[in-house]
Amino acid sequence: MIIAIDGPAASGKGTIAKRIAAHYGLAYLDTGTLYRAVARDTLARGGDPADAIEALKSAKALDPRTLGDPRLRKPGLGEAASLVAKHPEVRNELLAYQRSFARAKSGAVLDGRDIGTVICPEADVKLFVTATPEERARRRYIELKGGGIDLSEAEVLCDIRRRDERDKHRAAAPLRQAPDAHLLDTTNLDIDAAFRAAIDLIDAAMGRAGYAG
Ligand code: DC
Repeated sequence: MIIAIDGPAASGKGTIAKRIAAHYGLAYLDTGTLYRAVARDTLARGGDPADAIEALKSAKALDPRTLGDPRLRKPGLGEAASLVAKHPEVRNELLAYQRSFARAKSGAVLDGRDIGTVICPEADVKLFVTATPEERARRRYIELKGGGIDLSEAEVLCDIRRRDERDKHRAAAPLRQAPDAHLLDTTNLDIDAAFRAAIDLIDAAMGRAGYAG
């Protein structure tokens, strides 16, 4: 069973995806970490993430064992990741790893921007998780503050809007809801309510598809 979860930054998709994977006993891949790791390695070499040749070099040399690096969650890397993610060559290089992860025997949950549209168009269930930019900025602001990072809520909102624009309007695999994805708007839901709503959508979809349990 493959569950594809897409959505913009700070929509709650990562937390929901992780809990869904634990609930159904599936493997979990946060595909944003791949782009973040490519950005990290490009910057570490003194390269420019906006330069396709530099970013591709990092994508080709990417070591999946480094994907657990906690520094990948740093806010500046989100912006750099969005820049490397624009290059079709980079996306193409990361495709095989994501597809083979998805086809692991036990089944998998993947979250990102193009899982339901490009990586796993055949997924059993697709969710598109979103929330208003203001609510996403509020959540990210609280999270960053808790981690000792001092940015204003207005700065976080500006960063979120810039990334949304870039991720939605790039030519290669832009962020968009797959026609067969279920929309989950978490603007007025806390994380427990959002998780329950996701499980209800998945169970209903699996029931319709004739799966047991
Ligand atoms: O989900 P995240 O914030 O960790 O993602 C960081 C950036 O990586 C995001 O702005 C766009 C890019 N990304 C992508 O293009 N495709 C994916 N499947 C996942 C992330």
